[in-house]
Amino acid sequence: MKNIVAILFALLLTNISFSQNNLSDEQKTNTLLKQMTLDEKIGQMTQVALAVVCTPTDGVLDTAALRKAIQNYKVGSILNVTGHALTVDQWHIVITQIQDEAKKSRLHIPVIYGLDGMHGQTYTLDATLFPQNIAMAATRNPDLAKAITKVTAKELRASGVRWNFAPVLDCGRQPLWSRFPETYGEDVYIGKTMGATVIKTYEEDGLRNPTAVASCMKHYLGYSASRTGKDRTPIYMPEIEMREYYLPQFREAVKAGSSTIMINSGEINGTPVHASKYLLTDVLRKELGFQGLIVSDWEDIIRLHTRHNVAPTPRAAVVMAVNAGVDMSMVPSDFSFFDLLKEAVQKGEVSVNRIDEAVKRILLLKFKLGLFENPYPEDVATANFGKPEYQSLALDAAHEAMTLLKNQNDILPFSKNKKILVAGPSAQSISALNGCWSYTWQGKDEQWYPKDSKTILQTIIDKVGSTNVMTCTAKGFDNMINFDADKLKPAAAGADVIVLCLGENAYAESPGNTRDMILPDEQLNLAKAAASTGKPVILVLTEGRPRFITSIEPQMKGILMTYWSGKKSAEAIADVLFGDYNPDGILPFSYPKSMGEIVLYDRKPSEEVREVFNDNINGGYDPLFPFGFGLSYTTFQYGDIQLSSNNLKADGKITVSITVKNTGTRDGKHTVELYSHELYASITPFMKRLRAFKKISLKAGEQQTVSFIISKSDLEFVNAQLKEVTEPGDFDLMIGDKKARINYKL
Ligand code: BGC
Repeated sequence: MKNIVAILFALLLTNISFSQNNLSDEQKTNTLLKQMTLDEKIGQMTQVALAVVCTPTDGVLDTAALRKAIQNYKVGSILNVTGHALTVDQWHIVITQIQDEAKKSRLHIPVIYGLDGMHGQTYTLDATLFPQNIAMAATRNPDLAKAITKVTAKELRASGVRWNFAPVLDCGRQPLWSRFPETYGEDVYIGKTMGATVIKTYEEDGLRNPTAVASCMKHYLGYSASRTGKDRTPIYMPEIEMREYYLPQFREAVKAGSSTIMINSGEINGTPVHASKYLLTDVLRKELGFQGLIVSDWEDIIRLHTRHNVAPTPRAAVVMAVNAGVDMSMVPSDFSFFDLLKEAVQKGEVSVNRIDEAVKRILLLKFKLGLFENPYPEDVATANFGKPEYQSLALDAAHEAMTLLKNQNDILPFSKNKKILVAGPSAQSISALNGCWSYTWQGKDEQWYPKDSKTILQTIIDKVGSTNVMTCTAKGFDNMINFDADKLKPAAAGADVIVLCLGENAYAESPGNTRDMILPDEQLNLAKAAASTGKPVILVLTEGRPRFITSIEPQMKGILMTYWSGKKSAEAIADVLFGDYNPDGILPFSYPKSMGEIVLYDRKPSEEVREVFNDNINGGYDPLFPFGFGLSYTTFQYGDIQLSSNNLKADGKITVSITVKNTGTRDGKHTVELYSHELYASITPFMKRLRAFKKISLKAGEQQTVSFIISKSDLEFVNAQLKEVTEPGDFDLMIGDKKARINYKL
């Protein structure tokens, strides 16, 4: 009887508090928290994978397992798929069943479901996939990033999911790293700008709105900087480097209002980041002022014990991570975290205050997302799935990503009466155009891609008709026929030109680790065979990171870098090859020649110099193609840089303007990039640093003046005391081949 009264009282309280719309989310959170038992609190901090509550059939829940998870372990969050993307309807069934079960729990706390919608909604069949971040960085178009993010949010929400584990804010300065394609490339400013834009877009409508989802900045911090390039291997990083290249993207993202953050699975200077109170609490909370939810990455708490060996027992691992600042554990394959954390609290190793702090953040997010009012898939959101305009947006984004790296004697664009041999493993592959996180984690399994996805071979046939197209390839990247160099030569007999499609098939995370950055021999052999025919060869690269092509580059008449540009990659490639689109993508990384030539564009002065006894051929920055490089079918000319003043003072501003003229015969888009170089500074200055960019459209013969407003914060760097400073002195400002000098005084 007593129990029944208590339950009724609790229910009453719950109903009173949640139906009172005049209470703030904060007040509702506090009221709810007060009613919760320790088990209920720890359950909220527990996130398990769908596999834990699923039958062996993808997307079909195991009701007993679900009951156990929610009623016994009170789990607050579920993530992921068991194998592949589900339909919208399947997602609705899954989410509804989960929330129905949550409604039966004592306090009816809804579950928050999280997915990795990394370049579009990865895990819903027929969702629109867009270019990967690396390709979006090549567009230099934050408005496009905004537009595709809005669609991603809508398609997630249409699937009933309100938490996206994106965007990746790791800086791509290690091209060996298998997650390089998920980054915005090597430059900090592009990463900051694109990252903040994306985060704002996910959340700006207000999280209750069916066009918004909670974003997740990841992976804090330094994940991309592994020494060997292998995923989740040690990072050694002085703090000055961390603050210069890896922290600013997160600082901007916090300012842009991201609700959640995911932690780097790796270790920095011997400390696993999940155990770093310094990074998670001192830097992230106190310095950056982040107030949202910190979630671990996959299994990373227990790995403090099982992998990193800094915690002598599994419980010590949990204590370490929670006390360092992790609020939610992506456990995700069992309930060990729940049991261990409970024990730890009972033993006084983790305080109830710390638990309350974490749970408050989780509940607050659930309130803000409107999950307490309606945890189910929303009809208005469902209506936003798969709209036809998403396809044209995917094409716009793929178009702007295309980066033309070589066009000898204007071999491109082709006229449409050419006879073309289409060769190479990417010619008939869909997965090699989309890459990781595409309907499956690895993105390799082509059966899940939309049926109207096109290959490069198909879109070339669409342009010139099947009678003009030959191929020596078969479907799928890995088919052995695609690598048969002996077949290529005879196949080219009747062709005027060869379009050779090389690169990488899809991969994600550690399966993408590579021992060598050189394109594999079997692909280089195809290039050599193609060149030996004497026909012009256009190399189309579909790849997530710059695989070295130095030995074959001289024989290629044209090179088109396509990255992994999503659903409309093949259409965009053909449009560029045949001149139906004038390419305007520019590299977001330096394309190296070889392992010994990995120097990034924002190099230091001493990297610029080659001492005589070493090799002094081309200076220190000698990539195959430099950062920011990309050709067009038209030409652009700059006037001189105009400054509103040569003197920048303390808190003043100067306007930097330049006139750009399209001097060719075709309309085109062009990105104006402003770089700075300080002549002398207390620590060695960068030779170049991107400070601003703007993409414009110019009709043939048209000109436009582009202006940037520069203040001291645009010129800053991290000094030896780890402070961001702008030191007085002379700076060169550079746009294209133009340069102007300014002086900064305090
Ligand atoms: C990845 C994360 C991802 C998580 C959940 C991990 O392996 O590192 O980026 O969000 O899995 O799928």
